[in-house]
Amino acid sequence: MWSILLLVSIAAVSADPKEFHGDKVFRVFPQNEEHVEIIKSIASNTQLDFWAPETVSLVTVGHRADFRAEYEVVYDIQALLEKSGMPYEIMIGNVQEAVHTQRDSNIRAVHSYVKYNDLDTINAWSANIAAQNSGLVSRSQLGTSYEGRPIYLLKVGKSGSNKKAVVLDCGFHAREWISVAFCQWFVKEAVEKYGSDTQLTNLLNNLDFYVVPVLNVDGYAYTWSTNRMWRKTRSVNSGTTCIGTDPNRNFNAGWCTVGASSRACDDTYCGSSPESERETKALANFIRNNLSSIKGYLTIHSYSQMLLFPYSYSYAVAKDHTELNTVAKNAVSQLTSLYKTKYTYGAGGTTIYLAAGGSDDWAYDAGVKYSFTFELRDTGRYGFLLPESQIQATSEETILAVRSIATHILNNA
Ligand code: ARG
Ligand code: ZN
Repeated sequence: MWSILLLVSIAAVSADPKEFHGDKVFRVFPQNEEHVEIIKSIASNTQLDFWAPETVSLVTVGHRADFRAEYEVVYDIQALLEKSGMPYEIMIGNVQEAVHTQRDSNIRAVHSYVKYNDLDTINAWSANIAAQNSGLVSRSQLGTSYEGRPIYLLKVGKSGSNKKAVVLDCGFHAREWISVAFCQWFVKEAVEKYGSDTQLTNLLNNLDFYVVPVLNVDGYAYTWSTNRMWRKTRSVNSGTTCIGTDPNRNFNAGWCTVGASSRACDDTYCGSSPESERETKALANFIRNNLSSIKGYLTIHSYSQMLLFPYSYSYAVAKDHTELNTVAKNAVSQLTSLYKTKYTYGAGGTTIYLAAGGSDDWAYDAGVKYSFTFELRDTGRYGFLLPESQIQATSEETILAVRSIATHILNNA
């Protein structure tokens, strides 16, 4: 009797990850207001998981929207779409299969740059790479997450005095795994090519890169253990059972005014106040404390293949718009030169949509002029479930863009 109870409670604690059998990702192309209304009414009657844009409130005429629908409702939705005459596609016919095939084998404790690594593996990797490259990489702790996990920071660069610095962070949004893979690749390149690659050596001699391999550690762990589609932090909200805040709506930059939700159950919840999250607070404190050296801020997201710069909290044109636009243009042309991957670039508000509370806008207004958000591959064929076979190419092309921006910073900041 007791042993049965015990077994039951253990099973409840170590529940298997959520599965997505029969779930589909739809791409819809609303042609008019009526189509937008239809999408909104579907979203209000069923739980849709918006992938791009990340909330139904940002769906507009003339812009495609991608969302995941659970299998119980896919046929009803398809019928509604057919009836409405709204053009649509099914991007992913069976999400569970895509979750599964994203990784070619399931259980792996060894770190690999061409695989997605879980948080424990990444933490062991960052300790090792610092230990083995002590002249170039050092690890410290940026802060502690809501659930008590360490958030690590790697300082990458040759030691020197009065160096300018660039912050590079990955893993704001938990399900954007390619972002997290990219930060590891960046550090690998630095340690492998320092001394042989002239551009990189020059950059590392004269700049420090502060790399946050995973900012939203709780969320990232949760996408491995429980729900692959989780986006937010994992903090408890008062007065509701809904968990988490969108870290990229939680900064003090037009906080919660537009493109963000004040409802804790939403995926774009802005939080109870700016920097309410331990993770965003830790990052903001670090940048505030090092404003005299930090000249660049690069935050890595996915997906959409875009390079964005301020502003996103309003249509206001940034003071440095012309220069940032040129820097983005050059970075994108470098990126595209490798595998012809097409990127769009521009101010966030006009290039995708208004969304306040982002770290890029906050860093820019705090005085970090070269502030960019990357949205890595792809454009929706796999979305967040980008196969591991694309990690290397995605990372290599993205590094060309990062090098281009960093070189500009070195020469101009
Ligand atoms: N997809 C990203 C997000 O919604 C884009 C961020 C662009 N910057 C911004 N401040 N909204 O978080
Ligand atoms: Zn994101």
